[in-house]
Amino acid sequence: KFEGLALTPPMGWNSWNTFDTRIDEKLVKEIANDLVDSGMAAAGYNYIVLDDGWMTRERDANGNLVPDPAKFPTGMKALIEYVHSKGLKFGLYNCAGTKTCAGYPGTRGYEYQDARFYAALEIDFLKYDWCNTQGITAKEAYTTMSNALKKAGRPILFSICEWGDNQPWEWAEPLGNMWRISGDIYPCFDCEHKHPENWSSWGFMKIADMRKDIRKYSGPDHWNDFDMMEVGNEMNDTEDKAHFSLWCMLASPLFSGNDLRKMSKETVAILTNKNLIAINQDKLGIQGFKYTVLEGVEVWVKPLADGNWAVTFLNRTESTQKIAFDWKKHTIKDLDFGYEANFIKQVFKVTDLWKNKSIGTTEKVFKTEIASHDVVTLKLSL
Ligand code: GLA
Repeated sequence: KFEGLALTPPMGWNSWNTFDTRIDEKLVKEIANDLVDSGMAAAGYNYIVLDDGWMTRERDANGNLVPDPAKFPTGMKALIEYVHSKGLKFGLYNCAGTKTCAGYPGTRGYEYQDARFYAALEIDFLKYDWCNTQGITAKEAYTTMSNALKKAGRPILFSICEWGDNQPWEWAEPLGNMWRISGDIYPCFDCEHKHPENWSSWGFMKIADMRKDIRKYSGPDHWNDFDMMEVGNEMNDTEDKAHFSLWCMLASPLFSGNDLRKMSKETVAILTNKNLIAINQDKLGIQGFKYTVLEGVEVWVKPLADGNWAVTFLNRTESTQKIAFDWKKHTIKDLDFGYEANFIKQVFKVTDLWKNKSIGTTEKVFKTEIASHDVVTLKLSL
């Protein structure tokens, strides 16, 4: 892979969660404009990724992929130049199999040709999916595409989308800059959404819980990817806040998947919260974990640079919960990376990151009420 393209979790926008294959050049331009005008670009969201549906149903006579001229009448190259002119980066999608998940031409057998095509278009990011892959192995298929991109010469961030069935965390570190760890997200708090074709997509709490033992595989330039976000889609602002907090705690890539052309002030405020983004982008690059659960309130923790920590209290229950957290009765140990917060030996200053307010130190018991599905995220600083 091209090293160094994702030293902190990549951030941007992806078309899939809201638009499915209904994408076109007008939409992309409007999204690019809104990414800048809303303040999201300044907050760090700098990739625009077109997911499935950008191609015609067949390759051309030379075997090249064809951006759909009905959707992109001015041409993909001109559109990418437009996105670049806004100071943003651009990504496309394809699949390791014979066809993409939505039935467009897949890359199998065309890896080097497609890589040259992407380099000539000057894309910056490739999401590479795993549909229609009967008879090939994941490690080999992703190795081939990773090598092909390298050979084509343009630094393109390689985003592996294999859903976790073949344990990409065990082999993908040299190949890609991030990899999906699960099936698709669904815009709900904790549901399993069953599709008629007999597969499921998942509420964000389920995805956060899905793989307990893989955080040690995530880090700078090789991230566990918890999927594009559903913030601003079908959940309420409280749940969106919880979702965003967890994706920050998990050091997941942050790709918004909402319609930026009609988002509320509240959605913008959640997605651009500087304090939370700083937790996600912390240079240590460590994925947080669930430390404990108290009366249905989950306590997630994440070691940060300079001996600091982030702590998120997330009320997973259906009613308001009161908590009193006596720091001194806890020693938080990160056994994967060897960090420890010992509140007898160390006193931390405590900041409430959503309220942007300093609330004392860890010498004092932390008492609060948390509404159903709401969060409190704290930064503990030495
Ligand atoms: C798979 C991926 C999704 C999206 C669709 C597109 O389901 O996991 O993120 O890319 O394919 O068809």
